[in-house]
Amino acid sequence: MSDKAKILVVDDRPSNVKALRVRLESEGHQVIEALSGPEALDMVAQEKPDLVLLDVMMPGMDGYEVCRRLKVRQGVDFVPVILVTARTETEAIVQGLELGADEYVTKPFESLELMARVKSMLRIRRLYRENTHLRQEVAGRHSFAQVIGQSAAMRQLYEVLPKVIESRVTVLLIGETGTGKEKIARCIHYQGPRQEGRFVAVNCGALPEGLLESELFGHKKGAFTGATEDKEGLFEAADEGTLFLDEIGETSPALQVKLLRVLQEGEFTRVGETQPRRTHARVVAATNRDLEADVKEGRFREDLYYRLSVFPIHLPPLRARREDIPFLAAHFAEKHAVALGLPAPGFTPEALEALSQYQWPGNVRELENEIERALVLLPAGGIIGMEILSGKISGQVSPVKRTGALRDRMAAVEREAIRESLAKHKGNKSRMAEELGLSRWTLSQKMKEYGL
Ligand SMILES: Nc1ncnc2c1ncn2[C@@H]1O[C@H](COP(=O)(O)OP(=O)(O)OP(=O)(O)O)[C@@H](O)[C@H]1O
Ligand SMILES: [Mg+2]
Repeated sequence: MSDKAKILVVDDRPSNVKALRVRLESEGHQVIEALSGPEALDMVAQEKPDLVLLDVMMPGMDGYEVCRRLKVRQGVDFVPVILVTARTETEAIVQGLELGADEYVTKPFESLELMARVKSMLRIRRLYRENTHLRQEVAGRHSFAQVIGQSAAMRQLYEVLPKVIESRVTVLLIGETGTGKEKIARCIHYQGPRQEGRFVAVNCGALPEGLLESELFGHKKGAFTGATEDKEGLFEAADEGTLFLDEIGETSPALQVKLLRVLQEGEFTRVGETQPRRTHARVVAATNRDLEADVKEGRFREDLYYRLSVFPIHLPPLRARREDIPFLAAHFAEKHAVALGLPAPGFTPEALEALSQYQWPGNVRELENEIERALVLLPAGGIIGMEILSGKISGQVSPVKRTGALRDRMAAVEREAIRESLAKHKGNKSRMAEELGLSRWTLSQKMKEYGL
């Protein structure tokens, strides 16, 4: 929406409508009109104006009533209403605002004043629309549809997630680095009833103990050196939303006590204060450690562990669900191609095989990085083959990886065999590959490597 808008003028006196029309049109706005309350309601429904200028004193349905009905009906969309009233008493104005009017002007008004109000209301309308749009976009980005994987483990996850999302139960996400813990945490937030609240993520492993405490619970001015202001904590910031406690296993014993209290009682105290505060934040925690072992070895409080793992969700490492790899690879190829403004490339069977065989210590994140890298290297219109993949993946089947003196001896034998075959078949690679029992691709690689 530009600064030029569609404005509905509602007034029972045509001369008033006309005057406003002239003024608004001179600013470049499009003006539509209604001469009564019921007509105004119809116009809003049909024409979807960006702003309504509404006269209060009209026979039949007055401006207040129109305003009330409009605001009840609007629901998702927000159309600002400016009441135009001849009554200057505070009471009348308050009545209008209580019914949901967003602004008012009193008659007789300066046209400059009116124009200033129109402008500021249109700005709010624009911000509102942008905000709605962004919200939808964010929710879309964190939807189930964006979680890829059809393996049994993932299907199990899809089965429980909807139930988890609707409840307020604390969730503990357990999995190696890059398995998608934060991704699932965001899904839980953005697909659930708390999506209007904030999603606040904090990495418990990245902050020193004292700082983490004041981040989570807030502090009072003067509580410690550097606390120059009262500060709200993240449990407050996420009051209506979700607090994602990443790497919860890294918290100190003292902090674990405080976390247990807030999870159990919904109560916490800002650093330097004595009066407890309450929070309704939903907590989703994540860990890449074996917390059960930490409990046995006394590094993690048992009671906190049980409180956290009311609902544990295990995200298996990628190597334990290899059937998901081709789907994830295709998903990331598409995602990053779109970002680069390219058509999504395909994969050669060898490349897919190599991707599926690799161990992926960095799990899905590592796979995504690999595909992103491949897309940067890929010539326009190309297809992702072995030559594009990084050595750690393509090299799994290459002799380069073998080590030591034996490797050299073997390489020498291999080189000699290839050389002989090369001479025999006069460079016909299909015949050579067949004779040597290698794929054409592997043969080419080896010939390159041996300088043949
Ligand atoms: N099932 C999935 N489908 C699509 N993308 C995924 C999936 N799992 C993870 N990803 C992507 O992989 C990347 C890493 O995921 P995420 O950050 O959620 O991992 P993590 O478990 O929190 O890792 P860490 O323990 O290192 O913080 C992200 O870009 C995420 O979008
Ligand atoms: Mg993470």
